[in-house]
Amino acid sequence: GLRGLVFDLDGVLVHTDELHFQAWLSIAERLGIPFTRHDNDRLRGVSRMESLDIVLSLGTFEVSATEKQVLADDKNRVYRELLDGLTPQDVTDEVRSTLATLRDRGLRLAIGSSSRNAKLILDKVGLRDWFDAISDGENITRSKPDPEVFLRAAEFLALTPAQCAVVEDARAGVDAAVAGGFTCFGIGDAATHPRVTWSIESLSDMLDHIEN
Ligand code: BG6
Ligand code: MG
Repeated sequence: GLRGLVFDLDGVLVHTDELHFQAWLSIAERLGIPFTRHDNDRLRGVSRMESLDIVLSLGTFEVSATEKQVLADDKNRVYRELLDGLTPQDVTDEVRSTLATLRDRGLRLAIGSSSRNAKLILDKVGLRDWFDAISDGENITRSKPDPEVFLRAAEFLALTPAQCAVVEDARAGVDAAVAGGFTCFGIGDAATHPRVTWSIESLSDMLDHIEN
């Protein structure tokens, strides 16, 4: 049976996906590149630099490696300013009660996020103590759809991928979970991904699929 859960952070537990969008939008506007929320879906789960490449691909000009580093740093500066406003109120009661129920049912909980800002976000919203392990952008070399971040999370929990399920809002994240041998809950943009094990509308729906 299921022994552990690996949660994506941005867009699953906290609505930082919207803050990523706002930060990328400010960079895109500065460059005169059109950028919509629909385009932003392609950035879900993808690393900062790969996200920048996608944003730039919507424009028509080439950017040097040095300029790219400046743009990525600028995006992160804008994003961190937005993160500064996060408080525990940015986590819903549903998220907290779902995590509490899962712990009551004896499951080990981990974070599996591509972000280098994951621990900062968890501290700001007061969720860090809920997790037995955190695997994030600081301990990986390859971003989703590579399974590395989830494999490390399972390892940190001392469980095998087959004993864990991933919870994702990113299509790249579902691909990563499947590649790593995990079952997977898909929510939001990932709910319609054909390879999810369970498609859920709301986070607490996952409890219907986990033994009591
Ligand atoms: C993921 C987000 O969690 O983290 C992506 O879904 C983001 O949109 C990636 O690009 C990297 O985040 P950060 O905070 O390291 O720039
Ligand atoms: Mg996400």
